[in-house]
Amino acid sequence: MKINVLLSPLNADELFFTGKTTVVIDVLRATTTITACLAHGAKELIPVDSIEFAMKVSGNAFGGQTILGGERNTKKIEGFTLGNSPIEYTSENVAGKSIIFFTTNGTKAIVRAKFSEHLLLCSFNNLNAVAQYLLQLNNDVNILCAGSNGMFCVEDTVCAGMLIKAMTKMNSELEIADAGKASVILNDNYGDSTINILKDCEHGVKLISNGFEDDVEYCAQLDTTNIIPVYKSGVFKPLNFDQR
Ligand code: MLT
Repeated sequence: MKINVLLSPLNADELFFTGKTTVVIDVLRATTTITACLAHGAKELIPVDSIEFAMKVSGNAFGGQTILGGERNTKKIEGFTLGNSPIEYTSENVAGKSIIFFTTNGTKAIVRAKFSEHLLLCSFNNLNAVAQYLLQLNNDVNILCAGSNGMFCVEDTVCAGMLIKAMTKMNSELEIADAGKASVILNDNYGDSTINILKDCEHGVKLISNGFEDDVEYCAQLDTTNIIPVYKSGVFKPLNFDQR
């Protein structure tokens, strides 16, 4: 079982992912928020790679059971019901609903990987559950870091390193590609303090200065949920326990 890390979505086009097992990481905040959304009972979450497409999809939806969520430049988009704060995705706001969701980097990375055979999401919140499930699948894995505008970002890579370490603890036979080894070294360098990483990285600093410090703290929590968002036929739903 080989584990590779793509340090930014620009390193691979969408056909690269065909038939593969892919884990997308956008710790701040998209993959954390999607996980929170499904943990609080949303029926499904539909990731889109443009605001225009989000509007179009929502225009075809009937009734108030479909809502728009996401951000541009960290802020809620005009006309959307929810932003990209995991704290907003409460049962009261999302239970039973379909959420059409756009974010600057996270959903673009997800849409790029849409031809994967298995496509799932990881954040610090569900890291150990994801590690266990990947080992159970027993396929080669590509961990796709959403990055920032096509560039490397430290928090996603540190999370990738932590995911690899969690998997290695459970199975020491894994083959780790070079970018995976680099992710582990970066994770070792930061130690286990996820909050220090998130407060130190560029996007964390930006979120805090835009008033989202509570989100940064939420995103730093390790293993608070077993929910794993899995993508099938254009939507994310939580992995069923009987699929494990
Ligand atoms: C993104 O997808 O770029 C992020 O989730 C941005 C954010 O923090 O809202």
